[in-house]
Amino acid sequence: MRKKIVAGNWKMNKTFSEAEELITEIADQLDGTKPENVEVILCPPYIYLELATDIAEDAPYSVGAQNINDHDMGAYTGEISAQMLIELNVAYAIIGHSERRKYYNESHEFLAGKVDSALRHGIRPIFCCGETLPEREAEKYKEIVKTQLYDSLFHLTPEQFGWVIIAYEPVWAIGTGVNATPAQAQEMHAYIRKLIADKYDPQIAGETTILYGGSCNSKNARELFAQADVDGGLIGGASLIADEFISIIKSF
Ligand code: 13P
Repeated sequence: MRKKIVAGNWKMNKTFSEAEELITEIADQLDGTKPENVEVILCPPYIYLELATDIAEDAPYSVGAQNINDHDMGAYTGEISAQMLIELNVAYAIIGHSERRKYYNESHEFLAGKVDSALRHGIRPIFCCGETLPEREAEKYKEIVKTQLYDSLFHLTPEQFGWVIIAYEPVWAIGTGVNATPAQAQEMHAYIRKLIADKYDPQIAGETTILYGGSCNSKNARELFAQADVDGGLIGGASLIADEFISIIKSF
């Protein structure tokens, strides 16, 4: 059975005191009310990870990083490795977010290295893929996502692949208020699952969690999550407001 997951990607938001307040509020609201079959993951900025894992000791959520480097240690000023995070009880790392691809020129090959690094240290990658608006309008969206998966993920062994979570995030839906329609999301999630079945096998494809991301909020989450191949969401803006985020978690 594949997992249902709602993950909050805070991006570069919140001061330390605001982060503490939000994490505490989410923990309090989830306490005793979190749907048992849903895993909740908080991905705050690096400097709040320890805070989140400390509060999380008894809280019903896991903690993820928004990025990792592909090396374990060394002269890489400003970078953070999976090896450092594992001691903080960070269980997940977002890899390949479109903002990192766009602003920091992260290549397919670099992302493959990050996936390997996460898996070396037992951190589960939340691997993001998705097309831009021009790519969708040119009807190239399937091809783009296929390349993203083949070039950064499909070198993994079936056993390694079992650790990966995929997030389909159409770039045109991120932060725009225009979410993919449930039918558009379902089409792409089913396509991604088919790519996995073709590359690995149908059982692995059936067990892979595929999240939707892009302007997902408490109003549209229920219908998106009701799609057969949508296993939850990677939430940006709406994860910064406790009530919104909790309401999304309870949308299954
Ligand atoms: P928004 O939910 O703000 O559109 O962001 C989605 C996202 O990029 C999550 O990683």
